[in-house]
Amino acid sequence: MRRHAIAVLPGDGVGPEVTRAALTVLDAAESRFDFTTGRTEVPLGADHYLERGELLTEGTVEQLRAHDAILFGAIGSPRVTPGVLERGIILALRRAMEQAINLRPVRLYPGVPTPIAGLTPERCDLVVVRENTEGAYVAQGSSVHVGTPAQVAVQESVNTWYAVERAVDFAYRLAAVRRGRLTLCHKTNVLVEAGKLWTAVMESVGERFPDVETDYVHVDAMCMHLPVSPERFDVVVTDNLFGDIVTDLGAVLQGGLGVAASGNLNIAGNGTSMFEPIHGSAPDIAGRGWANPAGACLSLAMMLGHLGEGEAAAGVEAATTAVLAGLPALAGEGMGASTQELGERIAGLLADGSAPPVEGSLMSQLTQVMAR
Ligand code: IPM
Ligand code: MN
Repeated sequence: MRRHAIAVLPGDGVGPEVTRAALTVLDAAESRFDFTTGRTEVPLGADHYLERGELLTEGTVEQLRAHDAILFGAIGSPRVTPGVLERGIILALRRAMEQAINLRPVRLYPGVPTPIAGLTPERCDLVVVRENTEGAYVAQGSSVHVGTPAQVAVQESVNTWYAVERAVDFAYRLAAVRRGRLTLCHKTNVLVEAGKLWTAVMESVGERFPDVETDYVHVDAMCMHLPVSPERFDVVVTDNLFGDIVTDLGAVLQGGLGVAASGNLNIAGNGTSMFEPIHGSAPDIAGRGWANPAGACLSLAMMLGHLGEGEAAAGVEAATTAVLAGLPALAGEGMGASTQELGERIAGLLADGSAPPVEGSLMSQLTQVMAR
């Protein structure tokens, strides 16, 4: 029987709740599709940090490296200075594992309510390929005269041909198996130096993809186009920080942060990929069962696709979106069921195979792109 070694990082806040729900769905996927997983729980997060003063250590990186994938909940807590856990764990992991791409689908599934008036599923099916290791996220910078009116802060953004090229190349390949359209999103009219590099990489890689049509949109204009005419976009490739911001807006189109999924992909095969809902730890609602597990379950689907369990990936996606479509509200008390109850509902639909398959699933496109 096929067996996959999974590291599970539930983390903080609602992270453990949505992860537990996703693991219930994984149990159902294993029984239905004949594979097993070995699961190692890794206790990274606020508690571990406050008890031991430990963030991501080299030992943990080596431990994670021995796994086929990482299922991630959320990291971040009001008990720890903002940035310590985020940088010391999430960003450190993305870099240590060379998770070059942060893949963030923006898809409105049928029947899911969106706050954007008049938006329909046919018009909202794009994927953001976010460069995941550098830009403003290199955490370089310095301050002088701190605490005085003369305080100066310098915060750099680093862009290397190497990292931009691997993101852009992946984006072209994905566009080639989708609708053949790739948009570069940047701010080349102000960030001129970085903009020149990104534009040159787009042109250079583009020579190998004559059938992919390209265009360019400034990131501010993207925030206007995305809610109004998402149908304009197929694959969007962008810098780390722009990708972070634009995908929160993308999540809103899909029904909210609780629905949006992501894959931090190592595409070179020299590190472990990590799958996480994009909603974060939401400490304000933690412990109440109010978090929507859909983002975690759709991230699980991406993980299964990555592990070569294509049928299971499609099954989890179908069951999750079927459950989503029937919810009275997409988060909070109004959801009408707890996080874990929803996980069980999704697992139930998966077990009996009654959810209609999702057409044009990103999961099968990914399989084609990864198996180049
Ligand atoms: C995300 C998050 C992270 C990011 C934070 C928690 C460091 O917002 O995954 O989008 O900025 O990348
Ligand atoms: Mn974010």
